Amino acid sequence: QRHLISAADLTRDDAVLILDTAEEMARVADRPIKKLPTLRGRTVVNLFFEDSTRTRISFEAAEKRLSADVINFSAKGSSVSKGESLKDTAQTLEAMGVDAVVIRHGASGAPYRLATSGWIDAHVINAGDGTHQHPTQALLDAFTMRRRLVGRDAGIGQDLAGKRITIVGDVLHSRVARSNVDLLHTLGAEVTLVAPPTLLPVGIETWPCEVSYDLDSTLPKSDAVMMLRVQRERMNAAFFPTEREYSRRYGLDGDRMARMPEHAIVMHPGPMVRGMEITAEVADSHRCTVVEQVANGVSIRMAVLYLLLGGNEPAVTAPRTEEK
Ligand code: CP
Repeated sequence: QRHLISAADLTRDDAVLILDTAEEMARVADRPIKKLPTLRGRTVVNLFFEDSTRTRISFEAAEKRLSADVINFSAKGSSVSKGESLKDTAQTLEAMGVDAVVIRHGASGAPYRLATSGWIDAHVINAGDGTHQHPTQALLDAFTMRRRLVGRDAGIGQDLAGKRITIVGDVLHSRVARSNVDLLHTLGAEVTLVAPPTLLPVGIETWPCEVSYDLDSTLPKSDAVMMLRVQRERMNAAFFPTEREYSRRYGLDGDRMARMPEHAIVMHPGPMVRGMEITAEVADSHRCTVVEQVANGVSIRMAVLYLLLGGNEPAVTAPRTEEK
């Protein structure tokens, strides 16, 4: 594929290839010299119209480890504040000879528009658009689950068939939930969404997953429990549940975590609102993979960039390093 816009566009084989390639990239990260020459002479721009900590830094680290030239663009402080359009911004970057654009945008569909408009020639990678998709987040989550639930080496070539994944919280505003449901379904996992009825989207019955309103009965049947951030910034205040009410029914604390099977993990895409959807006790426990997810994000983003831009080399061949 030329672009990565949605987790729903990935076949099982595409997704497993990315996960396997990310394992190769993770091995590079364990070496004293972490840099590969693969994207030397290629230019990648990180085009961020919305705030980000993990995704922005992680893409930048991945691009630099692959030796790409990196341009960071943040809408804040740019001519976007003077009214410049996405089209004119994109064409300005195109004029500078960009090979790939990593875009985060508040409007659902902005990366698709960029990829299909003909405004630019570059590969487009969606780093999160509105409430729509965040495909590299879903891939790094699947990578983390495969490593923890199937095994680091045993996982090569494998999917997540039969794994039971519970996703909890503000599904309505969550591009992470949408992307994960799409990808986990493709990888053979069984997904259950647990959310207040007011935080589920219209048409949820067409999604390839189960829906429950009862967290306590779902936890003992889960191999992984993914907590979502309550996205106040996308929420009409009238629909916002009180923090106490939300935590009581949908928050994960130590007592609830004890209901999970011993092998089960707790995940969170970040940023976490400690005390609301997850207590500090759970967030800091050895069962919580939030920091591991961030580290895995660099390997996944290296894999995606390598597969989209890396040329004709076989994708899962161990990449050459600069070590002799
Ligand atoms: N998970 C995630 O997308 O985090 P950031 O918003 O910090 O990039």
